[in-house]
Amino acid sequence: MKVTVFGIGYVGLVQAAVLAEVGHDVMCIDVDETKVENLKKGVIPIYEPGLTPLVMKNYEEGRLQFSTDAQAGVSHGVIQFIAVGTPPDEDGSADLKYVTAVARTIAQHMTAHKVVLDKSTVPVGTAEKVRDAMQAVLNERGVEYPFDVVSNPEFLKEGAAVADCMRPERIVIGTDNDEVVNILRELYEPFNRNHDRMILMDIRSAELTKYAANCMLATKISFMNEIANLAEQLGADIEKVRQGIGSDSRIGYHFIYPGCGYGGSCFPKDVQALIRTSEQIGYTPRLLQAVETVNNEQKKKLPTFVVRHFGEDLKGKTFAVWGLSFKPNTDDMREASSRVLLETLWSKGAKVQAFDPEAMDEAQRIYGHRDDLSLMGTKEAALHNADALIICTEWQNFRAPDFDLLKNTLKHPVIFDGRNLYDPERLNKRGFVYYAIGRGESINLKK
Ligand code: UDX
Repeated sequence: MKVTVFGIGYVGLVQAAVLAEVGHDVMCIDVDETKVENLKKGVIPIYEPGLTPLVMKNYEEGRLQFSTDAQAGVSHGVIQFIAVGTPPDEDGSADLKYVTAVARTIAQHMTAHKVVLDKSTVPVGTAEKVRDAMQAVLNERGVEYPFDVVSNPEFLKEGAAVADCMRPERIVIGTDNDEVVNILRELYEPFNRNHDRMILMDIRSAELTKYAANCMLATKISFMNEIANLAEQLGADIEKVRQGIGSDSRIGYHFIYPGCGYGGSCFPKDVQALIRTSEQIGYTPRLLQAVETVNNEQKKKLPTFVVRHFGEDLKGKTFAVWGLSFKPNTDDMREASSRVLLETLWSKGAKVQAFDPEAMDEAQRIYGHRDDLSLMGTKEAALHNADALIICTEWQNFRAPDFDLLKNTLKHPVIFDGRNLYDPERLNKRGFVYYAIGRGESINLKK
C-alpha cells in the first residue's frame, strides 16, 4: 500500500521504517530540510537500537523515501499519517499547531479520498478539530473530496521502539466509518498475525486510551516511589516490598520499579495534558495531580541525599554522575531526572563529571560548554578525583562495576543510586556508604 507519514520524529520515523520493512511504499515528509537530507545519507536524528540499519535498508531498496515536498506526499498515499509533535503549551496542555498545520496541508493538496491517521498523542476531541481544519480548507478551495480522520495512537517505548512497532501488543483504531476498518486491516495485516490485535472503538475513546495508558503507568511509578519513601522512613526495604506485591498477578511486576522519578517525552507531558483537559471540563483530577507532584519531588531525591551527606554548600566538591538519559538505550534527556540533579548540584557550587553511553552529545547540546560540567569518555574516567558517585540511569554496564576500583578512585566511598542497582548489604560490607531509593537508609537504621 502507498503510505505517507508527516513528521519524521520518533514515532513517524519508526512507524515509517517498520511499514516499509513489511513491504509498504512509504513516503516521509518533514519541513526540516537538513533532517531530510541527512536521512538520505543514512544519518538518523535519534539513537534507537536497530533503527539505522532498518531505515538504510528500506531507503536503499526504494520502499522508504524522504522529502520536504508536501504536495508529493499528499498525492502519494491514500493513507496519510500525522506523526508530528504535540509539545506542551505554557499551561501544560498539548499544543496542536503542528497537527492542524499538517491537516490543512493535506486538504490543500488532496485530489482524491484520503484516510488521515492521527498517530500523535492528542487530546480528546482533536480528530474533530483535524476534520474541521481540513473541511475549512476544502471549502476555501471550493472542492469536495471525501476523507476520514482516524485516531490510531502509538504505544512504542523509546529504546525498544522498533521491536514494539514490529510486534505491537495492540493496534487501537478509533473511527466512525466501518469501511475505513478494511483499509486499515490491510495496512496492519503483517503485524496482526496469529491473533487479532486490532481494538476498534469510537474516536474519542481511542484518543483517551492513549492518555489513560500512559497515566496509569505513571501512576504505578509514583505510587511505588511514595511507598519507597515510606519504606525508607519505616526501616523497610522497598525491593522486598516490590517483589512481595509484584507476585500478585493483579498487580504484576511491570512498572513498579522505584527510582529517581520518571522522565521522557511522554509521561510528564501526557499526565500534565490530561490534567489540563480535566480542568477545562471543570473536573479536578486529584489522582493525576498527585502523580505529578510525587514525581517532581522524587526528582529531588538524589540531590537531597547528596546534601544530607555533604551539607548544603557543595563548593569544591566534584561528583561523578553515571547516566544522563531518562532511561537506558536512548540518548533522550527530555525531562530526565539527571537534569534536576545536575542543576541542583551546580546551584550549590559543585562540579560534575558525567558519563552516559549515548547521551553525551545531547548533554553538550543542552548545557554547552561550562566549567562545572566535564563530559568523560568512560564511566571509569568520570570517577577520577570525584568525591562520590551518583547514578541516574540503569544502563546495563553500570550493574556490575569494579567496586575495588570505585573505592580506590573516589575520594569518599559514597554511592547515591537513583535506580537501586546494587545490594546494600554487600556494599556496606565493602565499606561503602550506599544511598538507594527506599532502602539505603533502612539498612543504616537496622544497624
Ligand atoms: C512511555 C510508554 O511506556 C509508551 O507506551 C508510550 O508510547 C510512550 O511513553 P517511554 O517514555 O519511552 O514510553 O519510556 P518508559 O520505558 O515507559 O519509561 C518512562 C520513565 O519511567 C523512565 O524515566 C523510566 O526510568 C521510568 N520508570 C519506568 C520507572 O521509574 N519505574 C518503572 O518501573 C518503569
